[in-house]
Amino acid sequence: MNAKKAAADKAVELIQNGMTVGLGTGSTAYWAIHRIAERIKEEGLQLKAVSSSKNSEELALQLGIPIIPFAEVESIDMTIDGADEVDRDNHLIKGGGGALLREKIIASNSKRFVVIVDESKLVKTLGKFPLPIEIVPFAAELTIRRLEQLGCKPVIRKAEQSTFVTDNGNWIVDCHFDEIASPGALGDRIKTIPGVVEHGLFIQMAHTVVVGHADGTTSVI
Ligand code: A5P
Repeated sequence: MNAKKAAADKAVELIQNGMTVGLGTGSTAYWAIHRIAERIKEEGLQLKAVSSSKNSEELALQLGIPIIPFAEVESIDMTIDGADEVDRDNHLIKGGGGALLREKIIASNSKRFVVIVDESKLVKTLGKFPLPIEIVPFAAELTIRRLEQLGCKPVIRKAEQSTFVTDNGNWIVDCHFDEIASPGALGDRIKTIPGVVEHGLFIQMAHTVVVGHADGTTSVI
C-alpha cells in the first residue's frame, strides 16, 4: 500500500457534507483529490473546493470536483495538504512543489488544516529539506544576498533549462540550511527582507497530521 495514499484516504474521511475544502498540491495531495472525487461520486457528497495551485485545480476539475473562485470564498472548513518535513513541535517545511504562497493563504484561512505525509517526512529538526522561499524576480540578486546572510546556501529553482516560475509569476529560492534550530525566529527574519513574498515555514499551523505507513496503516498526531 502506498503510504501517501493511506494518509490521504484517512484524512478525506474527515470531510463532511456541505464543507468548503482547500485542496493542497503535490504527490500526497494528489491522492486526497482523487479520494474526494470518489466520495462525491459514491456518496453524492456536496462540496465546494478551492485550490492551492493550477495543477491541483486542473486535476480537481477533470475529476468532477466543483472549484469556486477565491472571490466567492467565505470560509474554508478544512484544508488537506502535504508537507516536505514535519518536526515534533508541529512546524512544517512546505513548498517543494512551488505552491507555498497559495498553500499558506488557504491553510491560514481554514478552520482545520490537516497535513498528510508518509513517515519519511517526520524529522527531529527541520532543515535537511532546503527551505523554499518565494521572491519577486525584480532585483532577485539583492534579495538572495540577504537570504545568504541568514546562513544558508540559496539556489534559484530551475525548471528544465529555465527559471521555475510560480503560479503567481514569482521565483523560488531553495535555501539550504541543513538545520533550522529556531524555525519561528527564522521565519520572522525572512519576512523582514523586502523582495521576499513568502517562505515555506508553516509554524504550528497544522491542526492534525496524518502519517501514512508503508503497511497501509496510519497514525494521527
Ligand atoms: C507543494 O508546494 C508542497 O508544499 C507540497 O505540499 C510538499 O512539497 C509535499 O509534496 P509531496 O506530497 O509531493 O511530497
